Amino acid sequence: MPELLTIREASKWATNYLNKQITTSNISYLIQYGRVPKIGDNGSTQVYKDDLLKYYKQNNKTKKELWKDKLGDDLNWTLSFSQYKESETTKHVHRLHPYKGKFIPQLVEYFLDSHTDKFKKEIFFKKGDTVLDPFCGSGTTLVQASELGINAIGIDISAFNAQISNSKIGKYNLRLIEETAKEISLKLKDYLKSRNNTDFETELLEELKVFNAKYFPSPEFKYKVRQKEINEKVYGKEKEQEFLSVYKKLIDKYRIELKQEKSNTFLDKWFTKVVRNEIDFVFAEIKKIKDIPTKRILSIVLSRTIRSCRATTHSDLATLFEPQTTTYYCKKHGKICKPLFSINSWWNRYTKDTLKRLRQFDKLRTNSNQICLTGDSRNIDIVSELEKRLPDFANKIKEKKMDGIFSSPPYVGLIDYHEQHAYSYDLFGFERKDELEIGPLYKGQGREARESYTKVIADVLLNSKKYLKENYDVFLVANDKYGLYPKIAERAGMKIVNQYKRPVLNRVEKDRNAYAEIIFHLKDDK
Ligand SMILES: C[S@@+](CC[C@H](N)C(=O)[O-])C[C@H]1O[C@@H](n2cnc3c(N)ncnc32)[C@H](O)[C@@H]1O
Repeated sequence: MPELLTIREASKWATNYLNKQITTSNISYLIQYGRVPKIGDNGSTQVYKDDLLKYYKQNNKTKKELWKDKLGDDLNWTLSFSQYKESETTKHVHRLHPYKGKFIPQLVEYFLDSHTDKFKKEIFFKKGDTVLDPFCGSGTTLVQASELGINAIGIDISAFNAQISNSKIGKYNLRLIEETAKEISLKLKDYLKSRNNTDFETELLEELKVFNAKYFPSPEFKYKVRQKEINEKVYGKEKEQEFLSVYKKLIDKYRIELKQEKSNTFLDKWFTKVVRNEIDFVFAEIKKIKDIPTKRILSIVLSRTIRSCRATTHSDLATLFEPQTTTYYCKKHGKICKPLFSINSWWNRYTKDTLKRLRQFDKLRTNSNQICLTGDSRNIDIVSELEKRLPDFANKIKEKKMDGIFSSPPYVGLIDYHEQHAYSYDLFGFERKDELEIGPLYKGQGREARESYTKVIADVLLNSKKYLKENYDVFLVANDKYGLYPKIAERAGMKIVNQYKRPVLNRVEKDRNAYAEIIFHLKDDK
């Protein structure tokens, strides 16, 4: 008789077998996504041990072995931080707002803190030092520096990125945020009463529930797809069409407005009319807030909310293709899904989540200085910009200079940093400086782009050097697939003294290929 295991037993067995923590949620995930068949009904779900064994045998030539095969034996596995759960790599304020291209906090901590190990044989920064991040992004360096009592200055060309960073390290009256958010939520609730999109959505969800239970039973449907008993593409399309008639009837019945009159801006194009109305409503309320820090953080909440409410399919959230204003077959969830017709639930969820995260960070932060300046790292005058915002800190930098850099520069032709937050530029009216972005995706990775990249990153280092003490330590994180960093170091009058090659495991959404990046340690070339 094959052995049956409950989810809890399966988690214990797999933890033992693989010699690493496999949680009950990991097992549920395997069942949910049809990796192993489910035996029994809800409540007493079980799996066959042999099915689990088969699955792990196929998929568990350990990740470490697989990656070393692909990326080389010099991979430094300590820096994979594979022992951390997602909740730890996105701890407290690090998840206040999505941002593509973040590094994980544990990596920053590794280089900034005062531990040493077999790879990191020296301590580079200590309490009271100052670290510069000339490509601050969403502020990971600033936040980790704060935890460690290290001062930090970030610079970013994108005003919205600077806003994300400064929101993370901002000091707040948390009670005021809570009260203000509550007031806005109540007003939004009232506003929704005068509309019929909530009733529409409730009825649509009811219809979807019945339809999905009939045609996409979970998890059997996904299992059958994996076993190739069902042709997902054909079947998905067919059922998608079938449901569309129900959907259209409801749209007519409730007279739901889908399209906006214009489609000139991101906000016009990527949001259904009903959602856009709510965004405008909440934003008008935020504009009335008098306390500036509260206003800023609630703007970040609204921005995070609207990102989740773009009219797109679940699987295209990271890369938008076409606006999705009807129900559709969703590959990610294996059933018919719907776009959003109200921001209400995300707004409520994110206000609560933001408060929770700010409270968590409040307990860990130290009384040191962190700030992100908006500007071009090639030529920004850090001290005079700082004087305008934090004069005492500016004086300290003038006197003592900074101790080093920890940063991940944009790589050549990878991401358009302004464009990824286009919705927020539209809404808040920040000035875009796309043309000053280093290595944007839209300029490609050709020879010219690579040469220009080499020069401008060196320019950033040369400008930064003016503010660094003599014996500085510079750490740059890059997936240098074109081998540009030796040349960059030379141009900047620096030498590479060490390289740490780290596997990047925590990649998001669809892109899960083996991938390594190098942390270059540079010093002055004297
Ligand atoms: C790889 S990201 C940094 C991510 C960051 N380490 C984090 O964890 O969020 C690179 C950043 O460099 C910024 N950037 C690009 N060109 C710049 C320039 N000329 N001056 C300053 N920042 C620039 C981009 O806007 C982007 O936010």
